[in-house]
Amino acid sequence: MPKKIGIVNGGGDCAGLNAVIEGIVRSGSKLGYEFLGFRKSFEGVLDADYKQLKAEEVEDISRKGGTILRTTNKGRFAAKVGDGEDKQIPEEILDKTKNVLNNLDIDCTIVIGGDGTLSGALQLQERKNVNIVGVPKTIDNDLMGTDKTFGFSSAVDFVVNALDKIHTTAESHSRVFIVETMGRHAGWIALYGGVGGGADIILIPEIEFNYEKLIESLRSHQNQKRGYSLIVAAEGAKSHSGDLSVIDAGTGKECVLGGIANEIMNEINNRTDNEFEIRTTVLGHLQRGGSPNAEDRNLALRYGAAAIKAVSEGKYGQMVRIKGNQISTVSISKAVEKLNLVTKDNELYKAAQSLGINFGE
Ligand code: F6P
Repeated sequence: MPKKIGIVNGGGDCAGLNAVIEGIVRSGSKLGYEFLGFRKSFEGVLDADYKQLKAEEVEDISRKGGTILRTTNKGRFAAKVGDGEDKQIPEEILDKTKNVLNNLDIDCTIVIGGDGTLSGALQLQERKNVNIVGVPKTIDNDLMGTDKTFGFSSAVDFVVNALDKIHTTAESHSRVFIVETMGRHAGWIALYGGVGGGADIILIPEIEFNYEKLIESLRSHQNQKRGYSLIVAAEGAKSHSGDLSVIDAGTGKECVLGGIANEIMNEINNRTDNEFEIRTTVLGHLQRGGSPNAEDRNLALRYGAAAIKAVSEGKYGQMVRIKGNQISTVSISKAVEKLNLVTKDNELYKAAQSLGINFGE
């Protein structure tokens, strides 16, 4: 009997998801494996909602954004409530998941996800002995154990392209622009996008900013020959005295971040009596949607092929990852132990500092 493999993608969508699916199915089909793709993350497993995936159907989906399997970042399989806070998935949910997979004769499930989805998959592996191979996914690039997650590079490209446009309008009006990027716990998108896109100030969740320093820095930028300023703020950035900026999206999800750009604008206006002419731009889900760039397509296809290699070698409980330019595996438990955050010894952070980019400190 050929090996039967389940494919689950969970969490927020991400440019490159379809490329991973293509990589898995095309390389696995050559080894005679069969594939069932579950819809909407583990919800599709629990509801036995799946479709058979054949090589000819997935050829060329790598250039498409989103995921042909659909996805969700909520539901019955939620295993994390926040950074580092694990939640035990109820026994009956894990049992039901295992039963569905067994009834479909699935030998191994490849789970493509970030911290939350992979934490859930790990519980399935450890508590119910279900064979899992993980693939790292998140535009935030905050997963440990890998240098890069696919989707990140496309998101950064988008931020840089957006900043290129903001520069010209900011310059024309001598304005201060605050551009809000994604990045819940980790400021990688803001850091890479901000440095690449020529930001003057970058605010990230890892470094609490100080309004007085921010205003001081703005004054000096506005008074220079250039005469306009660009602040890039990750959605999870906060000031020494402030809280996270959240919106009520009415989704029942614990905490939807958003609004930091407007919050900063209002606070600066209040503190300076409208000294600057400030505008805000929220890049939002434009960073996540659309086609993956070349780097993400290649990385995702490589991850797909590597996941099949891991399955064929029986490397269950492992996640494929890239270190340097070398693909290998690392245990899922290590990958989800803590988040990969920007630290002050990061090369790009240090370069930014020496370029004179301010972090609101
Ligand atoms: O985890 C990726 C991410 O893009 C975060 O940066 C962001 O906070 C979150 O997803 C938003 O997800 P959604 O709007 O789908 O709930």
